[in-house]
Amino acid sequence: MEAEFTLHVNGQARTVRVDPATPLLYVLRDDLGLNGPKFGCGLQQCGSCMVLLDTVAWPSCQLPVANVQNAAITTLEGLTRPDGSLHPVQQAFVDEQAAQCGYCLNGMVMSAVALLTVHPKPDDQTIRNALFRVLCRCGVHSRALAAIKKAADSMKS
Ligand code: FES
Ligand code: FES
Repeated sequence: MEAEFTLHVNGQARTVRVDPATPLLYVLRDDLGLNGPKFGCGLQQCGSCMVLLDTVAWPSCQLPVANVQNAAITTLEGLTRPDGSLHPVQQAFVDEQAAQCGYCLNGMVMSAVALLTVHPKPDDQTIRNALFRVLCRCGVHSRALAAIKKAADSMKS
C-alpha cells in the first residue's frame, strides 16, 4: 500500500507517495526527476546508482525508500555549487578526461566525494578501496585515480 514519505534530497524536503518498498533509485529518477544516479545491475553490484546518505556512498537500487527518511540524501545533481560550477571532483574528472561514460561515472564521482570527506589526502590503495563497488568496463581506472588526487589537492587549497 502506498504511503507518504518526506525525503531530504539535495538540501530540500521532497514529499512522495509510493509503496514503502520502492527502491530509492526509482523514487529519485521517476518521482523526483533526478537522473544522476543510473540503473545498471539493480543488484547493488555495479555502483551506477550510488548516492550519498549523509556522507556515505551507498547504492540506491535496492534501498527501500522507507529506510532513508532520516538521511540527508545527495545525488550527483546536488554536488553542483549554487553558482552552477562543478564540484571539484566533477571538475577533476573532466580535466583528467576520466569522464568516459554515464554508466559508471555517477558511482565514481559519488564514491570519490565520500572518500575525500574522510580521507582528504588518500593514497592509491585507499582510492582503489573506495571505488571497489564501482564497475567500470572500459578502463579509465588510472585516469580516475589521477582525477581523485587532483580533486584532493584542489580541495585543500
Ligand atoms: S544499479 Fe545499483 S549497484 Fe548496479
Ligand atoms: S567509464 Fe564508464 S564503464 Fe568505464
